[in-house]
Amino acid sequence: MPEPIRVVITGAAGQIAYSLIYLIGNGDVFGKDQPLILSLLDIPPMMDVLNGVVMEIYDCALPLVREVIPTADPAVAFKDVEAAFLVGAMPRKQGMERKDLLSANVKIFKAQGEALDKFAKKTVQVLVVGNPANTNALICSKYAPSIPRENFSAMTRLDQNRAQSQIAVRLNVPVDKVKNVIIWGNHSSTQFPDARHAIVESGGTVSAESAIKDNTWLTTEFVKTVQTRGAAVIAARKMSSAMSAAKAAGDHMRDIWLGTPSGQHVSMGVISDGSYGAPKDVIFSFPVTIQNRKWTIVKDLPINDFARNMLDATGKELEEERQEALAVCEN
Ligand code: NAD
Ligand code: LMR
Repeated sequence: MPEPIRVVITGAAGQIAYSLIYLIGNGDVFGKDQPLILSLLDIPPMMDVLNGVVMEIYDCALPLVREVIPTADPAVAFKDVEAAFLVGAMPRKQGMERKDLLSANVKIFKAQGEALDKFAKKTVQVLVVGNPANTNALICSKYAPSIPRENFSAMTRLDQNRAQSQIAVRLNVPVDKVKNVIIWGNHSSTQFPDARHAIVESGGTVSAESAIKDNTWLTTEFVKTVQTRGAAVIAARKMSSAMSAAKAAGDHMRDIWLGTPSGQHVSMGVISDGSYGAPKDVIFSFPVTIQNRKWTIVKDLPINDFARNMLDATGKELEEERQEALAVCEN
C-alpha cells in the first residue's frame, strides 16, 4: 500500500461535505488502495457539528481513512496537503444569482490561497466548489503565487453531469453511454452546455445531435435546463444541491488524480490561455483531457455562430466578475 496522502475539505461541517467525505473515504476519488489523512476545516462556531461528522466518519469504519483532523485553523488544515476541496462558502438562496455571493465569499478564497501558499505541498491540486466557483478559483490562485496556476480548477462537472443526464433521459440510454458533452465558460446561468461534439454509444457510436434529431431542443430547452438547474434545485429543496455537487466534486478530482479515459474529455474551469477566443486570465470552463495530473485543453473543435455568441457572453461575465473580485480583495 502507498503512504497516506493528506486531503483537506473545507466547509467540512456543511451539506456538500457530508456526502463528499464518504466518497473520498470510501476510495471513490483517489483509488481503492490509497490510504488517506482527512483534514477537515470549518469555522469556530461549527466545531461541535464537525465533531459529530468526525464521529460518523469513524462509525463508517472506512479502512482507507488513517487519521481525521478536524480544525478551525487554516495553518493546521492546509499543512502538507496534496489535494484540496475548497467547499466552505455561503450558498445562494432562492432569487439570487451565484455572482451575488461574490462580495461575501471571495475573501475566504483570498485567505485560503494565502494559507495554501504557506502550508500546502507545492504540487497540491486545488478544486474550488464554493460559489462563484470560477472567480473564487482565480482569486485563490492569485494569492498562492508559489503554486502553479494550472493546479487550480473550478467545478463545472455538476453542469456536465446534468447535461449528460438530460441527453440520456431524452434518448432513454444509460447515462454512461453519453460522452463528451461540453460546458463552456462560467458556472453560472451564462454557461454554455454544448452537445454538438457529444457522442452516444448505444448499438454503435453516433453523434448526440443525430441521435436526438431535434436541434431546436439542443439549442433552447436543453441549454436553459442545464443553465438553471441549480436554481430549480434550490426552489424545490430550499437548499442548494449537495448530493449531486459532492458526486461531481469526486468525479472532477478523480479525473485529475487518475486521468481521463482514452477518447473522452471532461469540462472544468481552468486558467484561460485565450483558446476558442475566451478572455485570457479568467478561469474558464473548457473541454480537457488529463494525464499525469496535467490537463490539456482539447483544440480545434469547430465553433459555429451560435456557439460563438454563447462563449462571448459567458467570457464577458467572467471578466466582469474578475474586476469586481479584485476590487473586493484590494479593500
Ligand atoms: P453549507 O452552508 O451547507 O456549508 C458551507 C460550510 O462552509 C459551513 O459549514 C460553513 O460554516 C463553512 N464555512 C464558511 N466559511 C468558511 C471558511 N472561511 N472556512 C471554512 N469553512 C467555512 O453550504 P454547501 O451546500 O455545502 O455549499 C458550499 C458552497 O458550494 C456554496 O458556495 C455553494 O453555492 C457551492 N456549490 C457549488 C457548486 C458547483 O457546482 N460549483 C455546486 C453546489 C454548491
Ligand atoms: C448548483 O449548481 O447547484 C450550485 O452551484 C448551487 C447553486 O447556487 O446553484
